[in-house]
Amino acid sequence: MKVLVTGGAGYIGSHTVVLLIEAGYEVLVFDNFCNSSRESIRRVEKIVNQEITVIEGDIRNRDDLRNVFEKYAISTVIHFAGLKAVGESVEKPLKYYDTNVNGSAVLFEVMAEHNCKSIIFSSSATVYGDPHTTPILENFPLFVTNPYGRSKLMVEEILRDIYVSDNEWKIVLLRYFNPVGAHESGTIGENPNGIPNNLMPFIAQTAVGKREILSVFGDDYDTKDGTGVRDYIHVVDLSRGHVQALERISSFRDPMTINLGTGTGYSVLEMIKAFEKVSEKKVPYKIVPRRAGDIATCFADPSYAKKVLDWEATKTIDEMCKDSWHWQSKNPNGY
Ligand code: NAD
Ligand code: WQD
Repeated sequence: MKVLVTGGAGYIGSHTVVLLIEAGYEVLVFDNFCNSSRESIRRVEKIVNQEITVIEGDIRNRDDLRNVFEKYAISTVIHFAGLKAVGESVEKPLKYYDTNVNGSAVLFEVMAEHNCKSIIFSSSATVYGDPHTTPILENFPLFVTNPYGRSKLMVEEILRDIYVSDNEWKIVLLRYFNPVGAHESGTIGENPNGIPNNLMPFIAQTAVGKREILSVFGDDYDTKDGTGVRDYIHVVDLSRGHVQALERISSFRDPMTINLGTGTGYSVLEMIKAFEKVSEKKVPYKIVPRRAGDIATCFADPSYAKKVLDWEATKTIDEMCKDSWHWQSKNPNGY
């Protein structure tokens, strides 16, 4: 069975490609490398000991996609390609709507043209906004506060509309919580451009000496120690969720919306402490004011994923930190 992985050279995509190949799927990677490099794929090839077909192309370009669907009989698309920086999306909303929404719509159109109607889409816990309570269930109200989040919600809605118009479509919407960690080999991992926006790469770069000090955004939230609480999930657990979804997608009738999280929330200070323990490095930090748009607490109720995907996260916070550190210390400058 041929699976097209858009954004397969990126952070979550590359880890998922490893697991898909290990599970016996034939994988095609489609990426324009705007936030990744061919080196991640070369490293994936080393891990799985086989060559991977990579197509350089843009999801916004019909012809790029048509060429792929004409050449290969693709049964399912796992759609990671997109832009993901929340702050940048506020500055450049049209760039986000163009890539994330228009690009996705072009992809779905070309899929339909070629009678490929099976898709797993990367959505995000950001669609829940500031939840009224935690843990977060899939049926909680949706509320988005920035163009990035809105683009994810729009694509979810586009896919639900597509299903209403043609119920042959098989659709899985996976809402990720906070992916961290790296492959145990330490050869692939998260490789942010410039100053990291997210906590874990910032911690790792501080521990390795690339950054002087971590700013902790606020210690006056209503949480266990005043710092923000999130559901950090190991990227390999997250990737495994995609393999489970792929194995079941043809048996699903309606579009499925599924949280992929661990169900446990850790604070910023707990993350720093866990990272210091496994890396045996000091992570200097200072408390600074809250970051605009942040919420106090966000963690999943992952029981639906357990029920319908027979999936649950198994990796601990120590493993997340250990693997992030392994990747960061082996590759201080990324790929
Ligand atoms: P990433 O940036 O590492 O990977 C995205 C990949 O898509 C990159 O390789 C990039 O080059 C490619 N891409 C971007 N625009 C493209 C285009 N127009 N055409 C073809 N390829 C294009 O990001 P990631 O962390 O691996 O995230 C993957 C997906 O998961 C994204 O859709 C993201 O929004 C979503 N997501 C990520 C997180 C997170 O915290 N990392 C959380 C929730 C959801
Ligand atoms: C985690 C915690 C910060 C950096 C974002 C997106 C979300 C999803 C995942 C894509 C918070 C604190 C962070 C730092 C800090 N991405 N922090 N100092 O904000 O939960 O989610 O990434 O879909 O859409 O919004 O993740 O890693 O940025 O922050 O104190 O330098 O760490 O305040 O409490 P977030 P994050």
